[in-house]
This record gives sequence, C-alpha cells and structure tokens, in this order.
Amino acid sequence: MEKIVVKGGINLSGRVYVSSAKNSVLPIIVASILSDEKCVIENAPMLEDVFVIGDVLKSVSANININNSSITIDTSNLKYGEPSSELVRKMRASFLVMGPMIARFGKFKISLPGGCNIGTRPIDLHLKGLTALGAEVSIGHGYVEASANRLIGNKIYLDFPSVGATENIMMAAVMAEGETIIENSAAEPEIEDLASFLNSMGGIITGAGTDTIKIMGVKSLKGTTHRPIFDRIEAGTYMAAAAITRSKIEVCGINEEHLKPVIAKLTEMGVSMEINGDNIIVDGNCALKPVDIKTMPYPGFPTDMQAQMMSLLCGVKGTSIITETVFENRFMHAQELKRMGANIKIDGRSAVIEGVEKLSGSEVKATDLRAGAALIIAGLAAEGITEISDIYHVDRGYVNIEKKLKGLGADIERIKY
Ligand code: EPZ
Repeated sequence: MEKIVVKGGINLSGRVYVSSAKNSVLPIIVASILSDEKCVIENAPMLEDVFVIGDVLKSVSANININNSSITIDTSNLKYGEPSSELVRKMRASFLVMGPMIARFGKFKISLPGGCNIGTRPIDLHLKGLTALGAEVSIGHGYVEASANRLIGNKIYLDFPSVGATENIMMAAVMAEGETIIENSAAEPEIEDLASFLNSMGGIITGAGTDTIKIMGVKSLKGTTHRPIFDRIEAGTYMAAAAITRSKIEVCGINEEHLKPVIAKLTEMGVSMEINGDNIIVDGNCALKPVDIKTMPYPGFPTDMQAQMMSLLCGVKGTSIITETVFENRFMHAQELKRMGANIKIDGRSAVIEGVEKLSGSEVKATDLRAGAALIIAGLAAEGITEISDIYHVDRGYVNIEKKLKGLGADIERIKY
C-alpha cells in the first residue's frame, strides 16, 4: 500500500506541466475497436486507468503497445470476447466498449459496471441509446447482453446529458445506417475530442461540444494518429493548489475555453490569473473571498473540481455553499476534511462551509480520485503533517502528482507501508 505525506505551510512556485486528459484518452482508446487499422495515441497519460482500459482491449484480442507516452492499438486480429467482470467492476469506463463491440461484432455481453463511492452510476441512458439504434438489450444475472444484426440511425433524447452515454451512442452510431441525432447530449470537451478522433478515422460527426450531435453513419473507419486535449481537471487541481497555498505558479498546458467555469470561480474568489496561450499564471497570494458553487454538466462548473474547491474554501473566511447536482454521493471528502479541522455541514446535495483560520495536518483517506487530490492540496496548506492513504485512487487520474507538486516546491513524499 502507498500513502502520500505532505508537510503543510510551504509556498509553491515555478511551473507545472499538465498531462493529456484521462477522460478523453479512455473513450478514444475504446473507439479504436471500430477500425481494423492501427491507431496511435500520442502523449497519452501513463495512468492506471489507461493501463486498465488497455487490458480490457487485450481481452478482446487487441494488440496494445505502450512506448513512452504513445499508445499503438492494433485491432486487426480483434476477436469477439467479453472483458472479465473484475476488469469492468474495477473501472466503469470499461462499459464504453459496448457500443463499439456491437458496431463491430453485432453482439456483446458485459458485466454491469459497479456503482462506486460517488454514486450508483446507472447505465439506463446508455441502453436507451443502443436500443434506439436497433440493439436487442437484456439484463440478467449481473450482465448486460446486446445484439443487433445491423444498427440503424435514430433520434435519441438523453434525459440527462450523460458523458458516458453520449460517448457509447456516438461510437455505436458512427457506422450505423443513416443519421443519428443525439439531443440533450453531453457537451464536455472530451466529447469533442472523441468526435474529432472518430472524424479523423473517417467518421462524419457534427455538433460535438453542443447539446445536439449529428452522426452520419459510414461504411468503415480507418486508422489514425491523435493527440488528446489537455486534462482540464488536472490543470484546475494545480490552480486550486496555488490558491490554497496563496502562491503564484504557472500551469502549462491549458485550454482557456475548457477552464472557463474554473477561471470564473477562482476570479470571483479574488485569485488573479494571466493567460498566455496554452499557459496560465495563477496568483493566489491575496485575501480570498467565500463563494457559492453549483456543479453542472459542461459548460457549468465541473463536478470533478468540486472536492478540490471544497478544500480551498475550508480555509476562506466566511460562508461558502457547494451544491453537487451531478452525483448523489460526492461529498465523501467532507468527512476527511473535518478530521483536518474543517467546518462543513452536509445537507443532502449541499455542503455549507464555514472558513477556518487553518486546517491541521491529520491522517486521512482518499475515498475516490478527486477526493484524494483534494486532500493532498488541503495538506499543502494545513498546519503540520498530513498523511493521505489509499492513494491508488489518485493514481487513476493524476500522472506523478507528488513529483509535479515537489517540482513546485512542496514538501511531499510517497511512502510504501
Ligand atoms: C464521466 O463519468 C467522467 N468519467 C467522470 O469523471 C465525470 O465526473 C462525469 O463524466 C461527469 O462529468 C469518464 O469520462 C471516464 P455521466 P460518467 O454518465 O460518464 C447519471 C473523474 O473523476 N446517469 O455523465 O459515468 C449518473 O448517475 C470521473 O474523472 C444516469 O442517470 O458520468 C450521474 O448522476 C468521475 N444514467 C450523471 O448522470 C446513465 O445511463 C452523470 O453521469 C448514465 C448516467
């Protein structure tokens, strides 16, 4: 087991480089199933989740070669197969394989993805979309089975702009017969990145990044090479680290458009920021103001930044209210922050935070990926030593987080125990 040990109270300085987006790379790797020609993903983030999705593809006989940070995926020998249930339960994103596998093989069976700490994570919208495209779907004994002689384009309305459902449907529809329209689709930048990957393979997708996506089915897709977008959540996490330690740092590898809600909220708090192309200078060295945050699907404030902002607001004098509208159980980090002396009251989907003078170092536990990152940045500002265990959660979504923070001057170590 490993934990991260942070000594708080140290200012950060210098430059941190952002990796490419986990939530882009995962669906893009899965989408390579749709072609029997090689796909290359450059500058891929070397993350646990990327290795797991690679294993999922290997379970259907894809050839994955990871060399430095480029991933070559050869699906010329793809055979029908079913990923093991522990792989699917390990990582929900494995479920994205369903759409492409049905498109390629006309059938697929996969274990129901488990819920996780942040919510039940249903798949009803994924199945609604695949059914609308002509798949016969059944659920039983903990598995989902689907079959379709052919997939036919259709108009699909998503009751919630689900990221995963939008991606699954897009990948199933890209070679369906005729046109598919996804209404109330997710508009996240990672959806746009997946669409540009599919279009570079010969797909015909328009409207990605808006709430209506049109997909004109094509006969086949060719191999391609793609460089994913920067990880806006990793970038936001380091921006929050600068604010919580009242430091000035430069975050290199950002897209201003993708970070708009985070920049707007930090600006409202009094953080000053200066954008130069792909880089942003963040200066948190000022008296910060309390704010209210409501997480929403993109372009609203990202749920994946909620925990990090809670850590930040715990040390800001006054009352802040965070409302989590996307997941029903995404306040697990609040309990851990209270061990550090935070004053947080949870009431259903809202958290009321009364800023305290200083958090105090403590032994805490990462309960999920973003909660773990939030506790690490809380430790940067806390009095004394903070130990964050179950750090494997964080490694799913952050490349070398302790090395990157150490590069900014933090006193932080990863310890085996
Ligand atoms: C993606 O998860 C991301 N994961 C999550 O990032 C992110 O928090 C989430 O989108 C929202 O932005 C990846 O891209 C791999 P959803 P996903 O389907 O696709 C409900 C991280 O920290 N819903 O948009 O699972 C669901 O219950 C992770 O990087 C249904 O009701 O999210 C939830 O309340 C965490 N029915 C809401 O939609 C469905 O069929 C958002 O889920 C599907 C979803």
